[in-house]
Amino acid sequence: TNPSLLILPGDGIGPEVMAEVRRVIDWFGAKRGINFDVSEDLVGGCAYDMHGVPLHDDTMAKAQEVDAVLLGAVGGPQYDNLDFSVKPERGLLRLRKEMDLYANLRPAQCFDALADFSSLKKDVVAGLDIMIVRELTSGVYFGEPRGIFEEGNERVGINTQRYTESEIDRVARSAFELAMRRGKKLCSMEKANVMESGVLWREVVTRVGADYPEVELSHMYADAGAMQLTRWPKQFDVIVTDNLFGDLLSDLAAMLTGSLGMLPSASLGAPMANGRPKALYEPVHGSAPDIAGQGKANPIACILSFAMALRYSFDMGDEATRVEQAVEAVLADGVRTADLLGQEGVQPVSTTQMGDAVLA
Ligand code: NAI
Ligand code: MG
Repeated sequence: TNPSLLILPGDGIGPEVMAEVRRVIDWFGAKRGINFDVSEDLVGGCAYDMHGVPLHDDTMAKAQEVDAVLLGAVGGPQYDNLDFSVKPERGLLRLRKEMDLYANLRPAQCFDALADFSSLKKDVVAGLDIMIVRELTSGVYFGEPRGIFEEGNERVGINTQRYTESEIDRVARSAFELAMRRGKKLCSMEKANVMESGVLWREVVTRVGADYPEVELSHMYADAGAMQLTRWPKQFDVIVTDNLFGDLLSDLAAMLTGSLGMLPSASLGAPMANGRPKALYEPVHGSAPDIAGQGKANPIACILSFAMALRYSFDMGDEATRVEQAVEAVLADGVRTADLLGQEGVQPVSTTQMGDAVLA
């Protein structure tokens, strides 16, 4: 049977960038004889417009059945005043929660042609290729107790950093598995010097590491990790960290490499019957209402998200590399969407023209 893929283009530029991914998928059928069973559905504001909810139960059920879900982006100003329970991002949160996607993979990869875009010196970022694994379903964003409470004659805001051994164990395993497919180097980041959850984190990651003797494991305090990421990011291969530190460190690492229009991501859960993890792939960027409908959006983040699906859900690493090399070649040729313009005198190409160039 063909690998199955549920495509949820969503709102704003989501459908525009996803249209280019559809062409890449068609290319694989026509040129490589690799056919996907693709179904498409609604998520976010467009689902609300149609069904009154940002994710229909039928769509949720479909997402649980397929090998991988590929999402564009959700949201837009016309939905900003909706009730919290039906806001577009609730559709995305429901997918993540019900699929139990606990490992968020954020690559920070620097294409040489874009090294000038980095906030760092070119030699610090040229050729950079690291992966941050952020725990996504637990930690301080979810721990109880939480809330704003009265205490004496003032209020107190409380959130709780809480991690169970099994929550740390499973995300650590995802990170070690990833390290095995990459440079076999894993750095775990926490604050074991001041946080008990960090002490447990370090202990459990070390224990899981015993199952992966080939992977060189190191530990770093997350604040030192932030310094090292900006000082010499190439010292890292895979980094695993909790939800809060991962939120900060992955945004920091992303900006080492340039534009939001370039950044893919994957969120992985427990292995399914076929051994592959439950998976949702999506660009890091949002629905970009400021440029939606103008053919200006950069489709590369979404195309690279599909490349991640090829690698992590379909075990087609060589085909994923083929897509990444196409992107690399296009950038080396100087093809630029408007978000990537730096040099004067370069004319931006449209979303479709960028798709054309990648296909070519
Ligand atoms: P955004 O990522 O949509 O846009 C930020 C800036 O980057 C804008 O100037 C936009 O034009 C530009 N940009 C983003 N992606 C681009 C691309 N592929 N090509 C060229 N330029 C690109 O973030 P913003 O403006 O904060 O949010 C807009 C809407 O998107 C909001 O409704 C927000 O809730 C939603 N959002 C959705 C996300 C998701 O679906 N995962 C993530 C972030 C925001
Ligand atoms: Mg963030």
